[in-house]
Amino acid sequence: RSAVARSAPSNSHLLRRGFSSESVLEHKVAVLGAAGGIGQPLALLMKINPLVSKLSLYDIGGTPGVAADVSHINTRSEVTGYAGEDQLGQALEGADLVIIPAGVPRKPGMTRDDLFNINAGIVKSLSTAIAKYCPNAIVNMISNPVNSTVPIAAEVFKKAGTYDERKLFGVTTLDVVRAMTFYAGKANVPVTGVNVPVVGGHAGITILPLFSQATPQANLPEDVIKALTKRTQDGGTEVVEAKAGKGSATLSMAYAGAVFADACLKGLNGVPDVVQCSFVQSSVTELPFFASKVILGKNGVEKVLDLGPLSDYEQEGLEKLKPELKASIEKGIKFTNEN
Ligand code: NAI
Repeated sequence: RSAVARSAPSNSHLLRRGFSSESVLEHKVAVLGAAGGIGQPLALLMKINPLVSKLSLYDIGGTPGVAADVSHINTRSEVTGYAGEDQLGQALEGADLVIIPAGVPRKPGMTRDDLFNINAGIVKSLSTAIAKYCPNAIVNMISNPVNSTVPIAAEVFKKAGTYDERKLFGVTTLDVVRAMTFYAGKANVPVTGVNVPVVGGHAGITILPLFSQATPQANLPEDVIKALTKRTQDGGTEVVEAKAGKGSATLSMAYAGAVFADACLKGLNGVPDVVQCSFVQSSVTELPFFASKVILGKNGVEKVLDLGPLSDYEQEGLEKLKPELKASIEKGIKFTNEN
């Protein structure tokens, strides 16, 4: 059931010569849930990332086809598809980075927390396998509710004795991507030069964009900032409603996931000053997990950065989000301990 396909060896030395020295390093990346709406475009984007030498595509089904398809792209990495639980170990063995978009997405009217009952179990079993087969891998958690699935993975790893808080990341990059796009539109500046930190968590009001720290500065009026904040918080729902029952954000999420994974790989390669926002174990607030800017290095998180100066509106948002985020974190921990 597994499809192994290698990119043409004939031109690999030519390709490699064109790379910067960092790209010659070998990195195996595994995508769990690779046949899904996010998984497929994410597999494509990881296939064209020159930092990846092996791309392992795992799902409960459908991955041989995705792997065969993606493997025909003439880039460096060797692609292998794995389908079904009996192949999960092979899919994970030797992985340096595991990206998890496995699980059900939202339908109109659902919150991310509504996904908890199904996705918590999936994340728990995948994390158990990671602890067994690639305990040193960096984990990028995309499966929702991220505010709970990251604590679930942490608890599983703690129980297995493999937990390294520097290596577990909740992927909140799509919130940053959205905040940057929406901000550029209102500030009327080219989006490519825009930066907006987004902190807190990854659901509704726990998503807190810090437009007061956005660059380039635009001094937008308070009502515009409030509308931008709300649109960033509801960005996922905007897509869920537009897709009208056919899933949630997949293409923009795959892009965001690929950006974050690339940053993790650059960090592993020792590229200096790689900074991304992510939901990680944190002491920036009193909550055990929190999203903020982090510096990525050879072992994952090198440093969790402080929130920096907040506007009064952002400070208010921060206080409002804490009880909800705390409850979601506790729900994840409780689930792992009771199941
Ligand atoms: P999808 O339903 O299209 O794909 C999910 C894939 O996971 C399917 O191929 C399914 O077979 C697979 N899967 C289910 N159980 C599995 C298991 N035990 N092991 C391996 N694979 C398994 O869903 P989509 O749209 O790709 O979304 C995936 C997840 O990502 C959802 O939980 C969604 O809420 C989340 N998401 C997260 C975002 C973020 O910003 N962090 C943004 C958008 C979605």
